[in-house]
Amino acid sequence: MNDLDAVYRYHDGTKHHFHRFAPSLGYLDWASQPNPFRTYRDAPQRPLSPRPDAPTSPIGGVLRHSLGLSAWKRYHTSHWSLRVNPSSGNLHPTEAYVVCASGVFHYAPDRHALERRCAFTINWPDDCFLVALTSIHWREAWKYGERAFRYCQHDLGHAIAAVAFAAGHERLSARLLPEWPQRDIAALIGIDRDEDFVDAEREEPGCLMLLGPSSLVRGPSPVLDPSLLLDAVRRGTWMGRASQLSDDHVQWTFIDEIARETEDRGRTISRSQFPIQLPDYPITQLPNRRLVLQRRSALALDGRSSIPADAFFSMLSRLLPSEAPPWTALWWAPRIHLALFVHRVDGVEPGLYLLLRNAQTIDRLRAACRRDFSWTPVAADLPLVALAHGDCRRLSARVSCDQDIAADGFFSLGMIADFDASLQELGPSFYRHLFWESGAVGQVLYLEAEAAGARGTGIGCFYDDPVHDVLGLTDHAFQSLYHFTVGIPVEDTRLTTERGYEWELT
Ligand SMILES: Cc1cc2nc3c(=O)[nH]c(=O)nc-3n(C[C@H](O)[C@H](O)[C@H](O)COP(=O)(O)O)c2cc1C
Repeated sequence: MNDLDAVYRYHDGTKHHFHRFAPSLGYLDWASQPNPFRTYRDAPQRPLSPRPDAPTSPIGGVLRHSLGLSAWKRYHTSHWSLRVNPSSGNLHPTEAYVVCASGVFHYAPDRHALERRCAFTINWPDDCFLVALTSIHWREAWKYGERAFRYCQHDLGHAIAAVAFAAGHERLSARLLPEWPQRDIAALIGIDRDEDFVDAEREEPGCLMLLGPSSLVRGPSPVLDPSLLLDAVRRGTWMGRASQLSDDHVQWTFIDEIARETEDRGRTISRSQFPIQLPDYPITQLPNRRLVLQRRSALALDGRSSIPADAFFSMLSRLLPSEAPPWTALWWAPRIHLALFVHRVDGVEPGLYLLLRNAQTIDRLRAACRRDFSWTPVAADLPLVALAHGDCRRLSARVSCDQDIAADGFFSLGMIADFDASLQELGPSFYRHLFWESGAVGQVLYLEAEAAGARGTGIGCFYDDPVHDVLGLTDHAFQSLYHFTVGIPVEDTRLTTERGYEWELT
């Protein structure tokens, strides 16, 4: 059996079709709704500084502006929190851990505190720390069934980008450490410790990020020796027991299988192996902290407002690879391209467009698409081409699981992954990375939308193959992995909003 067979089986098996959704329970079992906050009982708690500009460690600032709470919403008797990072169904499968000179800590976003999991001694490089991200598949599977593994990976991509931006605010650099196998990440943060997870839902190791001064993080020499670090935690003192999130569970074995088959065994990357071709576009500043905290998903868009072409082009230029966060956090050349349904952009004719994020793909993508597309360049300094003109509002809503938000904005889009070639080159575990990249693209779009006075929404529900049919894609060479929409939101005035943390000024 080819080692990619399991990836294709899962990917095809979790497609939504017009006549049939990917397998899920089909109803919500409210009694077993997972708790969105994990805690480690008996782990000593260390509150993080509420002030991001506090002169102490930047860890609090990074976590607050990437994974912290951004608001509490209330409607009648219901009360729920939102976070800086978005999540499919607001279910938040992503957990975060910090590893620094003083030990291993779990981040508790409900309290903006660290729970100490392990104390160890090791020689630690100045001003650096690690952030490990994990997924609790059950949180997403509870609602979405088998497709949930995809959503957990999207959410990781959003979280990676959020951490990279927040590091930038602290004047730190952040990057993924691909040399760490998932198994070692699990050992480092203690999620492989059966004795601490009695009755508790297990966490799937996702990725490890190094944060610190640019000279160290992006420098040529390794900053931390994995074997020394693993040895230190093995000899360290562990504390805390993971909390159970639901009383009852449904086993989704397809998810266990795809997680196993795409396990990342780590890889050595030489930077020159994945040359990032720097484009000539102006790189905009980091979105400021206020924008990061105000990011929200639009629940509905107004179906009338438009955006000037310049603002649209500038938004798209931020999605191209550059030496700026979050792109500097990723180690691979872009594999995600955008098929855009343009509805209301002043000066840009409605229709189907394509933003090519990696010039090397153009010939293969063009060969895979319908023959009658025009491939007409749109802007001199942007790799954006018009494929076909026409009103595609109904079409875009239809393929996005009949969600009006895909038609009622300025534009919506499908993220088209260079699927076969990437998996053949980088192996089954790269299936996860394709979603991470699409999540990172989504995170930039969310923030660019806020900066433009508009609002975005990630769209994980779409009919996979009908999207491919629009483009004429007939095999797995390219696959749509994630959708997104941007426009002017219509607020739901029935909801009231409170700040994320009581101690924080509005
Ligand atoms: C991977 C992903 C998929 C999503 N899919 C949809 C979707 O299909 N339809 C929708 O209305 N919202 C979708 N959302 C938006 C979430 O519902 C939203 O992020 C969540 O409710 C939290 O709200 P917030 O983004 O305002 O913090 C998606 C978000 C993510 C990250």
